[in-house]
Amino acid sequence: MEGEIMMKLASIVLCAGMGSRLKSAKSKILHELCGRPMGYWAIKNAVDISHETIVVVGHQALEHERVLGAYFQDTIKFAHQKEPDGTAGAVKAALKLLDPSCTSVLVLCGDTALLRKESLLKLVTIQSKSHIPIALLTAQAKNPQGYGRIIRNESEHIAKIVEEKETSGLEKEIREVNTGVYVFDADFLRENINKINNKNTKKEYYLTDLIELYLNKGPKHGPVESFEINFEEMLGINDRVQLAHVQNALNQRLLEYWMLEGVSILDPRNTYIEEGVSLSKDCVIYPGVHLRGCTQIGEGAVIENGSIIIDTVIEKHAHVFPYSWCERAFIGESTQVGPFARLRNGSYLEKNVKVGNFVEIKQSHLKSGTKAGHLAYIGDAKLGENCNVGAGAITCNYDGKNKHETLVEDNVFIGSNTTLIAPLVIGRESYIAGGSVVSQDVPNNNLAIGRGHQVNKPLRKNGSIEKRLP
Ligand code: UD1
Ligand code: CA
Repeated sequence: MEGEIMMKLASIVLCAGMGSRLKSAKSKILHELCGRPMGYWAIKNAVDISHETIVVVGHQALEHERVLGAYFQDTIKFAHQKEPDGTAGAVKAALKLLDPSCTSVLVLCGDTALLRKESLLKLVTIQSKSHIPIALLTAQAKNPQGYGRIIRNESEHIAKIVEEKETSGLEKEIREVNTGVYVFDADFLRENINKINNKNTKKEYYLTDLIELYLNKGPKHGPVESFEINFEEMLGINDRVQLAHVQNALNQRLLEYWMLEGVSILDPRNTYIEEGVSLSKDCVIYPGVHLRGCTQIGEGAVIENGSIIIDTVIEKHAHVFPYSWCERAFIGESTQVGPFARLRNGSYLEKNVKVGNFVEIKQSHLKSGTKAGHLAYIGDAKLGENCNVGAGAITCNYDGKNKHETLVEDNVFIGSNTTLIAPLVIGRESYIAGGSVVSQDVPNNNLAIGRGHQVNKPLRKNGSIEKRLP
């Protein structure tokens, strides 16, 4: 637990809403942002700073548990809200699981992915120092539409929060809004959550009503504490326009992080990176590159325009030329790939390998110094050191039922447009003549020629050919 404070913090992350404004068959909280489900971002912050984290699910509950649980395993608990009857209903469901030894409860929404851990910690500290049972984060919105408005009294203290649908007259003009992030004293929360009613336009139990419940206890209680954050940080995602906006902001954050770690990103507005990717200093990332999954990129590696790199390890000083696709591959030190190469799962290229344009590789190991410069398919093969694969050479690895292996030993030269019919072993130092169809093993130090002899037939004056063949 980070930021140790004299209290025991539990977090409740609300993820049980319908998210109907996204107009999707998929639950809102599971829509992806930089390679992770939306809910991941809030839950991650909660887990990092709390003793325990309870995630409230309802709509598509099992799917939420499966997807979110994969990232957090037993560091989170799931609570079930049977009906989506409002944010207070969700908190009520979570309280049933709350560890009784926790003294404070941070509540946050699963649809606010840009909140920073620092802001949450600051709020936790404010609440714990104040001895007031409620502290909340607010923000100034240019356009407050859709958010709960913070109503302050003549002493500038918070008097209540009014939801968009309940606002009247001048309340609509108020630009200070509720971020949906609160820290409560745990006992206060337990004692008051059941006092909230649903007498409002949406017939929902609004968590925000706790403020009035607290203040109604009388003036001897101090004012509700609050702290203002940047509006950008609190952006809730309710529709796909906001989804795209938050995706973009998170992406920029990740890119800025890597730039400050010494990575050159030539056009940050046009580069996509996911959480879980790692880069090293002096990497250069050109515009239009997508780095996904658990991709790792070594020092000084260069990834050029439009390349898509997924779950791939790229070692130092490797160079991926434009428009290459690399998925679950390994690219060794100083190896060159592309332009227009396709490395599929299990492509393992050792150092100083060259794979050029329109070469597809799958489940194959190419040892150092080996080259396949143009237009080749290498599947289920092992190639030794310093081999050369000519243009148009292919492994026929599939007989319609089974996959078979091709084994090529060191220093083999495979001529252009050869067809290697697996299973096949080509011994070291051998040559395969261009245009060959090779279906039998080739011993070491041999030249294999597997093609018909060329016939040259002289033409007659009128253009027809001699009848007799030579
Ligand atoms: C809520 C706040 C509003 C604030 C805004 C900030 C209330 C009543 N309103 O409004 O003041 O400005 O967030 O983004 O709290 N959820 C459940 N169960 C439910 C309903 C919602 O778990 O029954 C979850 C949703 O999945 C979501 C979060 O709570 O993650 C917020 O719900 P949402 O419907 O988006 O609330 P807002 O109308 O945005
Ligand atoms: Ca919302």
